[in-house]
Amino acid sequence: MFVMVGRRSMSSLKREVEQAQEEFSQRIDRVTSVKDLEVVRIDFLGRQGKISTLFKQIKTLSVDEKKELVPLLNNLKNISEDLIKKSKDRLVQQQAHAVQLKQKNFDVTAGQTGLLKGHSHLYSQFIEEIENIFISMGYDVLDGPYVETDYYNFTALNIPQDHPARDMYDTFWLNKKNLLLRTHTSPVQVRTMEHCKPPFAAVVPGFTFRHEATDATHDTMFAQCEGFVIDKNITLSHLFATAQTFLKTLFKTDDLDIRIRPGFFPFVEPGVEIDMRCPFCKSGCSVCKKTTWLEVFPGGLIHPNVLRAGGIDPEEYSGFAFGFGLTRLAMLKYKVNDIRLFLSGKLKFLEQF
Ligand code: DAH
Repeated sequence: MFVMVGRRSMSSLKREVEQAQEEFSQRIDRVTSVKDLEVVRIDFLGRQGKISTLFKQIKTLSVDEKKELVPLLNNLKNISEDLIKKSKDRLVQQQAHAVQLKQKNFDVTAGQTGLLKGHSHLYSQFIEEIENIFISMGYDVLDGPYVETDYYNFTALNIPQDHPARDMYDTFWLNKKNLLLRTHTSPVQVRTMEHCKPPFAAVVPGFTFRHEATDATHDTMFAQCEGFVIDKNITLSHLFATAQTFLKTLFKTDDLDIRIRPGFFPFVEPGVEIDMRCPFCKSGCSVCKKTTWLEVFPGGLIHPNVLRAGGIDPEEYSGFAFGFGLTRLAMLKYKVNDIRLFLSGKLKFLEQF
């Protein structure tokens, strides 16, 4: 703070001006930022600064003395102001240049930590994997409607009205007569036969619907994969070889036994259940419920009535069909213990795949 002092001698004030000039040039040389420069400006040119104080002190001098000292002081003030201004311009430029340099190396794609990254749903990934296996075996991939008619879902598949096999399928009937949500992917068999001339081989991965209570192994919406091959002289051994090749590829193993048991489905004759050795154990685990076998691949030779419904002569052609639980296989492969997780939309679950 400025304190008024008594009258100063001309020579001591002159020295003070010189000292102030010296000190100013030393300080300004050391300044490296606009902030530091402002401190220097206030110390010298501020209202209480050194130069302003000296101006106040010369008021006590005689007129002649003032004539000599005022130009000196004015000179000091002008030089200081000028230097402050020039230094400021230089520092501002330097700072802008430093920012530019930093931005030059700024990678807009880097540092995305914490951002949510999307990817295909487990179903989409698994369906693609399955499709690729069958495509490599020469199959086409087909699709069919979710809203089906009674005819394609049941009657054409050798399950006429009042057939007890209809009880196997808890059906979501729609308000419109004879319409339902397909209970399996098998209706696409007859739809295909109506349009294609044998030989053909196709798979139909897709969603299916059942009107049943949900629990860890049952959901009202789940996925199946239908498959069928129609040609001359097709036998069950074609089906067994196809099942084994597919399962080996899916579970990435060269050594995978299958076993065949009889099974009943109205649209095949004979019908079979193809089981595979549990790929996760040798002597029984929780996945195979200690049996070492997993029931995965139902199928059979297409029933002559179904071929006929599709306009194909069973005397000339035969075919095999299968329809495995795509969701069930995904649960086995990825060890998912609750079917309801698939369509739950829970990111904690989906992010794992
Ligand atoms: N559609 C049957 C179901 O949902 C599964 C099935 C079994 C399909 C045997 C087939 C087959 O094509 O041959 O239970």
